[in-house]
Amino acid sequence: MPIDFDDREDGQTEPEERLLARTLTSSDDNEGSLRPRFLNEYIGQEKLKDNLVIFIEAAKKRQEPLDHVLLYGPPGLGKTTLAGVIANEMGVNIRITSGPAIEKAGDLAALLTNLDDMDILFVDEIHRLNRAVEEVLYPAMEDCALDIILGKGPAARSIRVDLRKFTLIGATTRAGQITAPLRDRFGMVTRLDLYTPEELSRIVTRSAGILNVEIQPDGAHEIAARSRGTPRIANRILKRVRDYAQVRADGVITRAVADEALKRLDIDDKGLDAVDRRMLEAIIRNFGGGPVGLDTLAANIGEESVTIEDVYEPYLMQLGFLARTPRGRCVTERAYTHMGIPYGMDSGQLTMDN
Ligand code: ADE
Repeated sequence: MPIDFDDREDGQTEPEERLLARTLTSSDDNEGSLRPRFLNEYIGQEKLKDNLVIFIEAAKKRQEPLDHVLLYGPPGLGKTTLAGVIANEMGVNIRITSGPAIEKAGDLAALLTNLDDMDILFVDEIHRLNRAVEEVLYPAMEDCALDIILGKGPAARSIRVDLRKFTLIGATTRAGQITAPLRDRFGMVTRLDLYTPEELSRIVTRSAGILNVEIQPDGAHEIAARSRGTPRIANRILKRVRDYAQVRADGVITRAVADEALKRLDIDDKGLDAVDRRMLEAIIRNFGGGPVGLDTLAANIGEESVTIEDVYEPYLMQLGFLARTPRGRCVTERAYTHMGIPYGMDSGQLTMDN
């Protein structure tokens, strides 16, 4: 759809800073300094990295921008980090914004026309772009062009403005909410998976090195095993365990130090926090182990449905504690065992075999 610049209610030009979250620097947030900057520092997501190495090398050889990339998966797995890594590998700038920050078609036009040749535009939460904005993206992604309407009524005319070549990297936790026309315009659509304990252990060890804190291998394993497959959580826990090690121990993160600090943080031996346990217990005690619908469950434990879906369920399903069925969520026998609640077959609970 062409952009009508008269769609801004107040007639003002808005500052670009409102749209651009920030560029990736080591000081912009507390994850910053721990973020890998190049692919050889990035641990995990091996298949995705293998593909990226080839696509990046090919694009550089042709002196073209990388094709548009859509990254999806649960929060905290490194979508923004990976976009920064891609920019560094390509040797281009990255501009970071998010779906809800781009309110008007003109906002997106301002961002796109300010990009330098080959730059990357990173749009986080891209599923939250509104329809009018999304339609501006189509010709931009496909033909590097903007269609602009000048004037109003019978005198209105449309002109096409060429953009510099760019790469759009979109990120979302909800691939299902991306419209088909938008999804189809990405040359690469990739899911980020939860990390294995071994990968997280390497990440924790690397981060401890950057934070200058001594960590023993089984201390790193303990943190890794209790970080829900998520680097952001592993790094956050590492910082809290470091505090504990420095105040209550001799500064070294051993297994015992990690275990004690994690217990104090209310994170159990499988990495479940208070909300995970409340959710499992509610399904077992209030809904006979399930099935229970997502919204009913959300109301029962006082969490948002989207938070349950995006944040809690992926890890509980990976552990084999929770199953999604057409009739609702069910707790498995394994989860009863973990929660120390006797398992009864009278209320539709699942074993991992059915
Ligand atoms: N820090 C956060 N995520 C990371 C990753 N995937 N590799 C290395 N360090 C990280």
